[in-house]
Amino acid sequence: MSQTYDVVIIGGGPGGYNCAIRAGQLGLKTACIEMRDTLGGTCLNVGCIPSKALLHASELYETAEKDFAGFGIKVSGLEADLAKMMGGKAEAVKGLTDGVAFLLKKNKVDHIRGKGRIAGKGKVEVDGPDGKQTLETKHIVIATGSEVTPLPGVEIDEEHIVSSTGALELKKVPEKLVLIGAGVIGLELGSVWRRLGADVTVIEYLDRILPGMDSEIAKQAQRIFKKQGMAFELSRKVTGIEKTDAGLVVATEAADGGKEKTFEANVALVCIGRRPYTDGLGLETVGIETDKRGFIANDHYKTSADGVWVIGDCTHGPMLAHKAEDEGVACAERIAGKAGHVNYGAIPGVVYTNPEIACVGATEDDLKSEGRKYKTGKFSFMANSRARANHETDGMVKLLADAETDELLGAHMIGKGVGEMISELCLALEFRAASEDIARTSHPHPTMTEAIRQAAMGVEGWTMQA
Ligand code: FAD
Ligand code: NAI
Repeated sequence: MSQTYDVVIIGGGPGGYNCAIRAGQLGLKTACIEMRDTLGGTCLNVGCIPSKALLHASELYETAEKDFAGFGIKVSGLEADLAKMMGGKAEAVKGLTDGVAFLLKKNKVDHIRGKGRIAGKGKVEVDGPDGKQTLETKHIVIATGSEVTPLPGVEIDEEHIVSSTGALELKKVPEKLVLIGAGVIGLELGSVWRRLGADVTVIEYLDRILPGMDSEIAKQAQRIFKKQGMAFELSRKVTGIEKTDAGLVVATEAADGGKEKTFEANVALVCIGRRPYTDGLGLETVGIETDKRGFIANDHYKTSADGVWVIGDCTHGPMLAHKAEDEGVACAERIAGKAGHVNYGAIPGVVYTNPEIACVGATEDDLKSEGRKYKTGKFSFMANSRARANHETDGMVKLLADAETDELLGAHMIGKGVGEMISELCLALEFRAASEDIARTSHPHPTMTEAIRQAAMGVEGWTMQA
């Protein structure tokens, strides 16, 4: 059987499903192929959503355990019910993946189950539960996402040696958890299991955590996570993992060789990054080549092959759900002949630890290496009235603005709830605001957002609070 479409999207993650919905809204006959049982991709099924559900539940537990007393609240018999937490997580995932299926239907998008493969210009073959079929289409959008980067010599069994997917499904709290990689996944999922009682050691190849984020903020984050009980082994690489009757022995040496050291663990989480997933996609049938790291290049989402587009984790840029979503929408608009656009200079990044870490725009390290002249404004939550009232004084806001024009260039924060607060600065960057614009904008008192305003006043040299 052959079906004809305007757009066939391969992959039903945040990139693919948002592209499909927008294409449907624009009146294009659209199909979205997904090989998982449910829509929503990595993000909804095994990424953003399940991790945030566990982060929230475990944070509530730790708050009750460690912070309630400071507010004069006595708790007795406190206990974490892991099965119930996992149930809550599954419920959130189901509600959202069902919601995506509903949205595709509402926007007249055909959801086709199975693995999609490009079979030459304008043709996509699908091998699914209902057998094989070939779709004819004017446009193909590749939105196949990413997969875990493997660590050579270490085999993931998703039970003892796990990826993020296994770490979201552990049946019991590991006594000793070793994280390989001090990036976003390691710090978020490491926080979950530490809060629930695991002894967590982080092994990181570089001499810092969270590469790519502002180094001053990353340093502060490491100090706070260490205080919370995480142990850090920086400048160290894993050379192998041995399975013994007692558990795992993680062998390491210094990043520059020698200084061998082993770590015992019950579970090891491999989180050294993700790589594009384009296995069996038939790229060769339309002459598309990937770069050395497996990414498909794009020019405004167009690949090198006529009528084939690419969005999300399998093309360049940050591997984030909102970046994939933004590209999905812009790509559908371009296919429909409109001027879809993404401002890559204003895509925020958030690490959902406690405190959270959030950033948008240039880091101080970027500006230094570009030789750009800039002004800095900083404000500590220690001097913010709401933070003090709430006992949430860890962290700071740091703003960077052009030395001559005062245009905001970057914002970096660590503190309770800064993942919500960063959107103000995304908007400021989109509107090319000056830091003085932020400093003169009324912010409600008492809120944590006043720290942003104070940091902006700091850029101007007239901070009001201590
Ligand atoms: P994906 O979400 O990976 O979707 C691609 C889909 O395509 C998959 O469902 C796959 O099954 C399907 N597919 C692949 N090949 C085929 C084929 N040939 N045929 C049919 N279907 C195919 N990002 C954030 O912004 N915030 C977060 O808090 C966050 N948390 C994360 C936590 C974890 C543990 C992980 C692993 C990731 C997290 N991310 C987060 C990253 C985010 O999940 C990804 O950036 C996002 O999912 C990318 O969207 P995508 O549509 O490009 O790809
Ligand atoms: P990452 O790129 O954030 O961090 C990987 C870390 O591993 C880096 O610090 C790197 O230096 C280190 N590393 C690399 N090789 C190593 C080795 N051999 N030994 C020790 N350390 C090594 O990757 P991560 O944490 O796996 O996350 C993957 C992607 O998922 C990220 O790109 C991120 O964008 C996305 N994600 C986003 C989240 C969010 O937005 N809150 C949450 C989770 C994931």
